[in-house]
Amino acid sequence: MTQSFTVMSTKDTQFKRYTVTSALPYANGPIHIGHLAGVYVPADIYVRYLRSAGADVLFIGGSDEHGVPITIKARQQGISPQQVVDTYHELIKTSFEAFGISFDIYSRTSAPIHHKTASDFFRSLYEKGVFEEKTSNQYYDPEARQFLADRYISGTCPHCGYEKAYGDQCENCGTSLSPMDLIRPTSTLSGKAPILKETKHWYLPLNKDESWLRQWIVVGHKDDWKTNVYGQCKSWIDNGLHPRAVTRDLDWGVKVPLENTEGKVLYVWFDAPIGYISAAREWSEKTGNDWQPYWKSPDTKLVHFIGKDNIVFHCIIFPAMLKHEGSYILPENVPANEFLNLENDKISTSRNWAVWLHEYLEEFPGKQDVLRYVLAANTPETKDSDFTWKDFQARNNSELLAIFGNFVNRSLVLTQKYFDGKVPALDHLTEQDIKILNLIESFPEKIGHAIENYYFRDALNELMNLARAGNKYLTENEPWKLFKENPQRVETILAVSLQIVAKLSILCEPFLPFTASRLSDMIQLKGQCWPDAKKRVLLPEGHKLGEIDYLFEKIDDNLIETQIQKLHAIKLANKAQNQFQHNPQKDMISYEDFAKLDIRTATILAAEAIPKAQKLLKLTLDTGLDQRTVVSGIAEQYRPEEIIGKKVVVLMNLEARKLRGVESKGMILMAEDSNGKLGFVSAGNIFHDGSEVK
Ligand code: 2FM
Ligand code: ZN
Repeated sequence: MTQSFTVMSTKDTQFKRYTVTSALPYANGPIHIGHLAGVYVPADIYVRYLRSAGADVLFIGGSDEHGVPITIKARQQGISPQQVVDTYHELIKTSFEAFGISFDIYSRTSAPIHHKTASDFFRSLYEKGVFEEKTSNQYYDPEARQFLADRYISGTCPHCGYEKAYGDQCENCGTSLSPMDLIRPTSTLSGKAPILKETKHWYLPLNKDESWLRQWIVVGHKDDWKTNVYGQCKSWIDNGLHPRAVTRDLDWGVKVPLENTEGKVLYVWFDAPIGYISAAREWSEKTGNDWQPYWKSPDTKLVHFIGKDNIVFHCIIFPAMLKHEGSYILPENVPANEFLNLENDKISTSRNWAVWLHEYLEEFPGKQDVLRYVLAANTPETKDSDFTWKDFQARNNSELLAIFGNFVNRSLVLTQKYFDGKVPALDHLTEQDIKILNLIESFPEKIGHAIENYYFRDALNELMNLARAGNKYLTENEPWKLFKENPQRVETILAVSLQIVAKLSILCEPFLPFTASRLSDMIQLKGQCWPDAKKRVLLPEGHKLGEIDYLFEKIDDNLIETQIQKLHAIKLANKAQNQFQHNPQKDMISYEDFAKLDIRTATILAAEAIPKAQKLLKLTLDTGLDQRTVVSGIAEQYRPEEIIGKKVVVLMNLEARKLRGVESKGMILMAEDSNGKLGFVSAGNIFHDGSEVK
C-alpha cells in the first residue's frame, strides 16, 4: 500500500493509516436498510474514498454473536446458540459482499481468535487491578439451575400494571426497569418465582475515568465530533459515570478467564468491541500483514461507524477499556448516525417492519447501487430520516437515470456516432468550455472534503451536481444539431463532456462502485484514483471507448407497488397480532384445578333469542346425560337457525346462573382465534371406538 495519499483535510495529514470499524451486527437476524443507512453505507463510502485517495486503510466488520437475545432465539427455535449465529453470520456476510461493502475482513465473535483476544484483554485489566469485585443478590431459577438475565424474568410493571413486563423494560409503557422493580417476578424458563442468590461480578469503575474522559471528549473533541455524539457523551459525563459490571451469569459468551468462575461469561458489550481487534488479528493471519500498527500506532486514525444507540459503548466504555489496557490508540472520531424509518414508521425486527438486504438483493438483482444511492441520499446524519418506496423510485428515475445515466449515455453514444468511439480533440475552447472545465476541477476536493467530514449527503449531492453540470452543458450546446454545419464544435463539446464522464467514473466509485466499474469499462479508463480526477484531461485525444450500455434502467410502478403491498400485508398482520396480544395469557393453573372441569360434547337441539338481551341466545342442549338450558353470549356472531344441530363442547359442572331471567346450566366453550375472532371449540373428532362427532 502506498504511503503518500491525498486527503483534503489538513488535520488528517498527521496520520499514516486508517483503521475503520463498523458496528458488529448481532447475528440473530438479517441486515436491513436501517443498518445500511446508519452504518455500513457511510463507512463503505468513507473507506472507498480513502483507498481511492491512496490511503492505507483497514476496514473491519464482523458479527456480534454473544448476548442474551441470541440465547433466547435459540431457545425459542429449539436449537443451540451456535446454530443461530452460524445461520445469520453466513447470511449477513454474503449479503454484505453482494452489496459491495468492501470489508478487508469480516470476522465473528464466536471465532477462537476472538475468545482468546477478549480473554487476554480481560485478564490484562484484571492483573492491573482495574476491576472492582462485587457480590450482590440476583434472581436465580432453582429449577433451571441458572441465574436469570433480565430478559429471562417477567412480572408486573410497577408503573403501568402490565403483567408481562421484562426485567429490563416494560414494553407496554416503555419504562426502563431493573428485575428488582418487577412485582411478582417469574422466571420465563420455568414459569416459577425466582429466588435471590448471591453472585460475584467484576466491574469497570468508570467513575474513576470521569476526569480524563471529560478532558478527552468535552475539551478535546467538542469541535470535530458530531453534535449528536458530543452531546450524548457530555450528558453521560455530566450525569456522573458509575461502575459497570463487565461479567454476567450466562452459559453463552467468552468465559471469564479466572478460577472458580463456572457459568460466568464476559458481558457482550465488553467482548464485542474487542471483536474489532480480533478481526484485525484474523486479517493479519490471513494476509501476513502486521495488525499492530493499525491498533497501536499513534499515527493511525481510528474511526468507529455506529448507530446512535451504540454511542456510550464506543465513546466512553470501550475507550476506558483501551486506556486501561494501555497499549492501544483511542478513536479519533465516532461518526454515529441517527435512525432510518421505513414509510414513516420505526424499523422493527420483531414487527418485521423492514426492507431486508438479502430480500432486496433477490428482488432487485443488479440494483445494488440504486439502494446505495437512495440510502446515502437519506443518511440520517443529524436527525432520523425516512425511506419510502416512492422516493426510491423517484431517485432512480429522475436522478440516477435522468441526470447521471442520461448525461453519460448521450456523451458516449454521440462520440460513437460521430467519431467512431474515439475521444475528439479538446481544443478551440470557448469561454463557456473554459468555464465548465474550471468548475469541474473543484469537485474532487469538494466531494473529498465532505466525505472526510462525514457529510455523506452533501458529498453525494456534489457528485450529482457534477453530473448535472455535464447534463446542462450538453443540453445547452445541443451537439446533435450542430454536427452537419460545425463538426469541429461538436468535437470540442464531446471532448469536454467526456472529461466530465471520466471524472464521474472516478468520483462515483465510493457511492456507486458497481456503476463505477461498468463505466470505467465503457470508457476504458482503468486503475484511476481520486487524485487523477483533478487532471483536466483524463481521456486524451484518440482514446478509444469501449462498449456502451445503459448504466441505469427505469423502475416501473409495478415493481414499487409490489413492495408497497408487501409492507401493507405486514401492517395488517401486525394489527391482527396486536389485537390478539391485548388479551394476554392468564395466570397458570394447576392440573388439579383443570381436572375439576367436566367437559363433554353436546348437540344444540334448539336456539332462540332472549328479549332485550342483544348478545344472548338461549340454547337447549342434548348432553347425552340430560337435556338442559345454557345461555350463551354468541348472538352477535350467530343466528339461532344456523346453529341448530351443531355439535359443541360444553362445560357441564359450572354453577347454575340466572341470565336475564333464564337459568343457565353450564357453558358452551368458545375460543378466540389469532385475530381475536370468536369461534366454537370444534367437536369434530373421531373417538377411539371409531364413532364420529361432526
Ligand atoms: O447494536 C448492535 O447491533 C451491537 N451488536 C453492536 C456492537 S458494535 C461493537 F461493539 F461490536
Ligand atoms: Zn409499564
